[in-house]
Amino acid sequence: MCGIVGYIGMHKAADFLVDGLSKLEYRGYDSAGIAVLDKGKIRLDKCVGRLENLKRKLGGNMPEGTVGIGHTRWATHGRPSDLNAHPHVAGKFAVVHNGIIENYLKLKEELLAKGHKFISETDTEVVAHLLEDKYEGDFEEAVKQVLRVIRGSYSLAFMCEDEPDMIICTKKDNPLVIGLGEGENFIASDIPAIINETRRTFIMSDGEIATVTPDGVWVQDVNGVPISKKVFIVNWNAEAAEKGGYDHFMLKEINEQPKAIRDTMTGRINAEDQTIHFPELNWTEEEMAEINKIFIVACGTAYHAGIVGKYYLEQLARIPVEVDIASEFRYRSPLVDGNSLTIVISQSGETSDTLAALREAKRLGARTLAVTNVVGSSIAREADQVVYTYAGPEIAVASTKAYITQLLAMLMLSIYIGRLSDTIDKKLARYLVSCLLELPKQVAQTLENTKLIEAQTAHYAQCNDVFFLGRSLDYAVALEGALKLKEISYIHAEAYAAGELKHGTLALIVEGVPVIIIATQEDIYDKTVSNLQEVKAREAEVLAIGFEGDTSLVNYADQVIYIPKTDRYLAPLLTVVPLQLFAYYAALARGCDVDKPRNLAKSVTVE
Ligand code: G6P
Repeated sequence: MCGIVGYIGMHKAADFLVDGLSKLEYRGYDSAGIAVLDKGKIRLDKCVGRLENLKRKLGGNMPEGTVGIGHTRWATHGRPSDLNAHPHVAGKFAVVHNGIIENYLKLKEELLAKGHKFISETDTEVVAHLLEDKYEGDFEEAVKQVLRVIRGSYSLAFMCEDEPDMIICTKKDNPLVIGLGEGENFIASDIPAIINETRRTFIMSDGEIATVTPDGVWVQDVNGVPISKKVFIVNWNAEAAEKGGYDHFMLKEINEQPKAIRDTMTGRINAEDQTIHFPELNWTEEEMAEINKIFIVACGTAYHAGIVGKYYLEQLARIPVEVDIASEFRYRSPLVDGNSLTIVISQSGETSDTLAALREAKRLGARTLAVTNVVGSSIAREADQVVYTYAGPEIAVASTKAYITQLLAMLMLSIYIGRLSDTIDKKLARYLVSCLLELPKQVAQTLENTKLIEAQTAHYAQCNDVFFLGRSLDYAVALEGALKLKEISYIHAEAYAAGELKHGTLALIVEGVPVIIIATQEDIYDKTVSNLQEVKAREAEVLAIGFEGDTSLVNYADQVIYIPKTDRYLAPLLTVVPLQLFAYYAALARGCDVDKPRNLAKSVTVE
């Protein structure tokens, strides 16, 4: 996720570009840059770090030109650095990009063979060179040629020194809006960037190409067929606009999960032969054979993703796994050695305890792998290898989309290792991949039930305690459901392995106590239902979560939330969605500050 902006008109472009980018920093903030056509030449100003750094660099020396594009970056390909910052320039062209160009390596090889020289590690620079390569005097035509060969997800804006009166932009699977002014027009990834300038906008759809001039915007498809767009007037205030019209970042981020999943699969799942690859790891059978134990270390929500990861790795890759809370691991003299792999999971890549645990594992000679959402973070830099989750920046303190992508990364990794070590056969791997391909749609479907969940939650918001139960993978998700509820609604919540309840906690289950029970794991389904009956016999109020088509839960539970049918390994990626919404609506009903819960911080960089 990155933010892009563009301006063409009669004022200094840089003023809008910098202001617009400041409204998009929630989309990425590891580097920023602008390219402005100044006296017919592209002037490029960019630097690593937050937008403040760029502003400082520009100082009083702002470019004068009235056409420009800008970018605030959330790195995917290439660490945050001055050179990797956008815009990227090749010859007469400047480009900004939000998304991932999947086939950039192949394109780069072809361009290198033709003599193009690259200075960054990004996929975007390839697009700039490709445009230069395709250009034969017709800017629009060259853009169309580029779109015919690039694969992946993108919103892109292009500028050309030969055409000082136009910016061309286009999109696929990433947002792009056009703002319409008088004698000036605006381009942005999101409405907050343009709201101070104009409220007349239209939203670009996939495959559309807009040629933006000071006097108008012309939209066509790749074959030149004109498209007429419906202009709408934005009536959100600036704050609501930043949250994409949602009341809170948390709700926005919950709703971004289908996209976060799709982005995290990109380049790793081959839909044609239904296989999983991690080009960034490229492990061999021999290397895997040396690993006899895996440690997963993390904090908070990431720790809960680690518990799910243990089930995945042990069942699919058949390697013993220990999961540790980072603050425990670092002081407990773990029996880590050169034949073990330590996986640290961290959304921010900066959590102090997780970083210390990583260093401890390295000191003890383990191989290390980071699963993180932030390219170039401390944990990413220090681990031997990194698997990135592509959730985009997460602003709400309570982690949602980062968690779901951590589960996905752990499942894909387990299938990948399972195939390398031959602990699962091709058929099972293919079947799981086919289920994964359905997942974004199924998460979206689950989100559509929001209204239902909102209604079911209102009542629970008044309770003092809520218990979450499940077995196996359902238990692992119950832990996360309880944490979500605690951290944002301040309701006391506990998760138990359903079979463990009778060893003490059942004493607390009396009439009216709310119990949420998850029942998706078919191998122990009957046992979970017995536990459901146990709590029902004590007159608990039970909300069950199960698969569509499960006709039995309704006989025992007071209410049931259904999730789309999938394989049991993927169930956590669906059952967590109603639990997130449950916590959200409970917090809302109690008037809590959802995005900034008391006493908590997004990134804990102190011990
Ligand atoms: C804080 C956040 C949690 C997060 C945990 C670990 O406590 O509030 O939401 O799960 O840190 O953060 P990390 O960035 O390492 O995943």
